[in-house]
Amino acid sequence: MPAPLPYVPDLGSIDPSLDLVAEIQRLRKERGAVILAHYYQEPEIQDLADFVGDSLQLSQQAARTGAEVIAFCGVHFMAETAKILSPDRRVVLPDLDAGCSLADRCPADQFQAWLKDYPDHAVVSYINCSAGVKALSDIICTSSNAVRVVESLPRDRKIVFAPDRHLGKWVMGQTGRDMVLFPGFCIVHEQFTAKRLAALMAQHPGAKVIVHPECDATVSRMADFVGSTAALIRFVKEQPALSFIVGTEAGILHQMRKVRPEVELIPIPADSGCNCSLCPYMKLNSLEKLYLALRDLQPEITLEEGLRIRARRAVQAMLDLG
Ligand code: 13P
Ligand code: SF4
Repeated sequence: MPAPLPYVPDLGSIDPSLDLVAEIQRLRKERGAVILAHYYQEPEIQDLADFVGDSLQLSQQAARTGAEVIAFCGVHFMAETAKILSPDRRVVLPDLDAGCSLADRCPADQFQAWLKDYPDHAVVSYINCSAGVKALSDIICTSSNAVRVVESLPRDRKIVFAPDRHLGKWVMGQTGRDMVLFPGFCIVHEQFTAKRLAALMAQHPGAKVIVHPECDATVSRMADFVGSTAALIRFVKEQPALSFIVGTEAGILHQMRKVRPEVELIPIPADSGCNCSLCPYMKLNSLEKLYLALRDLQPEITLEEGLRIRARRAVQAMLDLG
């Protein structure tokens, strides 16, 4: 029998007179659901969520939640990590097409073939990868703990780092460790260029430059601070500066405005196309699709149990570091 067609959100089935926010609140209670959202989500989704965070914080929340349903407003690898950690929960992602260029460009079979050249290396994988890649890894890291994860390995241990070559290079600089890097990259952060940043810095000489480690080294080298999304928000909150040039997905500005409404926030524009510095995958989620996900309890993330257990080992190794 052919596999059933995947669930597609039917936006036309939504009564246009519905108060979506009120309906989401009602369904959240009725379903016993928790809404987790990443900092790159639309402001109205962040404001509705029970918890907003970076990849590490969201996976910690998913691991400890008592909710029956996790409505994950982020991208596929994040919802999949929630399922890896909480197999008894029903995990729904408002749009199943919300992928990630890092995860999509590192299919598990190709990664496994690539690893054959490095049989005696520890495999450290960035959480932005599929469950299949996690299952082939020794330990997972996020942008907020990558340095600590690499430093937890013995100094003489050879390491391969996947799939983000830019994060890997930045970690090499921070730790002084040599690593073999898988040649992946994020399509959003690769669009920030040193040329664009230099022009912005000339226009705003007093601004602090803060960027995500997924940026190319030519950009992160120019920054006053490099960190995960949570660390960037913390930096804006704690630094006395009144102007910040921000090198990451522009959804993050919402929380930055909340913690420091008085400061000037200048997103680095992407150096191509619409110059918008938005992640096209993250932005697939919407209030309408979140409503449908809670109404229909679809699209649901499912995982074959053997794969889940193998992937969990590497994620747990990261969580055990604290
Ligand atoms: P954070 O873990 O820093 O939130 O990053 C996630 C991500 O996808 C960055 O592009
Ligand atoms: Fe993936 Fe880049 Fe989007 Fe983050 S911003 S989810 S790394 S494509």
